Amino acid sequence: MAIIGSDILFAANNLKQGKLVAIPTETVYGLAANAFNEGAIKAVFAAKNRPNYDPLIVHAHSIQQIKTFVNSISPALLKLANAFWPGPLTLLLPKAQQVSLLITAGLETVAVRVPNHPLTLQLLQTLDFPIVAPSANPFGYISPTMAAHVQQQLGDKLDYILDGGSCKLGVESTIVGEQDNEIYIFRLGSLTQSDIENVLQATVKLKINKSSNPTAPGQLKKHYAPKKPIIIGDLNKLQLQYYDQKIGILCFGKTTILNSNNIVFNLSETENLSEATANLYNHLRLLDHSDVTTIITNFISDDGLGATINDRLQRASSK
Ligand code: TXA
Ligand code: MG
Repeated sequence: MAIIGSDILFAANNLKQGKLVAIPTETVYGLAANAFNEGAIKAVFAAKNRPNYDPLIVHAHSIQQIKTFVNSISPALLKLANAFWPGPLTLLLPKAQQVSLLITAGLETVAVRVPNHPLTLQLLQTLDFPIVAPSANPFGYISPTMAAHVQQQLGDKLDYILDGGSCKLGVESTIVGEQDNEIYIFRLGSLTQSDIENVLQATVKLKINKSSNPTAPGQLKKHYAPKKPIIIGDLNKLQLQYYDQKIGILCFGKTTILNSNNIVFNLSETENLSEATANLYNHLRLLDHSDVTTIITNFISDDGLGATINDRLQRASSK
């Protein structure tokens, strides 16, 4: 089992020695390693059982630090960086030579972000290198939003968990990049499409691959998934269909429960989307660890963070 604590210097010393440390961010916990240590990068892939075609995000304390390992940043992306960093925005930028192709899975762009968590920002400031940090879960499983989640699943594979409490936002960063002078959102996340568009004063397109083609990095169809089957549909009909089983119900807002033996988690009784996003992974995890046979849920309105929640539900339910 890993040690859990809030000792930044201990975390920093582990990272300097090439060891793995779980770090809190405002989105989800990350599994961090020195971005300039190839052995440590390989250890991250191994600990997560992550295929080497799925590239990692490099985390840094500032735009200034990021500029030391990318070749350029376009005016539009710089505008986004200035608006949202530190925060839940990941940018795809042309990598400088010293960024290992292990990190980028052979791509010439590197994903970068400045996370917004006081402990992790302090940690990054004490280091003289940036860190890679994928979400700290086994590949394909739900991302962790508490230190205990990391301990449960990866505790024997890392040295230290820096405990920064529950992640405030609860879903991953939004990934934005540029192709042929057009800005695209490659992963919906804690920032919505209109958050991005409002800063750019322009519409942006989504390029979110729903395929199971492993050459489309990060956009694998099945992802963020619990082990129990998830069925998405009309909650009344599904409750009747599964009436003879003990099921889990993941709902949003006012919901009629037909069988009191079932386990119910309401993402937000008041239909608050930020609250729902912050609860999503923890609720899915609790249902997955319960004794229900199946989890049923429904899509919500695609407005704002609703689109992100629906994207994660879709992937979690994908076969
Ligand atoms: O909120 C977050 O972004 C969290 C916290 C820990 O910062 N990190 C995170 O990392 O979600 P991960 O590895 O679970 O997801 C990173 C995604 C992957 O889907 C990966 O394929 C994509 O970013 N990605 C990384 N580099 C890329 C690149 N050069 N081009 C396209 N996609 C990339
Ligand atoms: Mg992940």
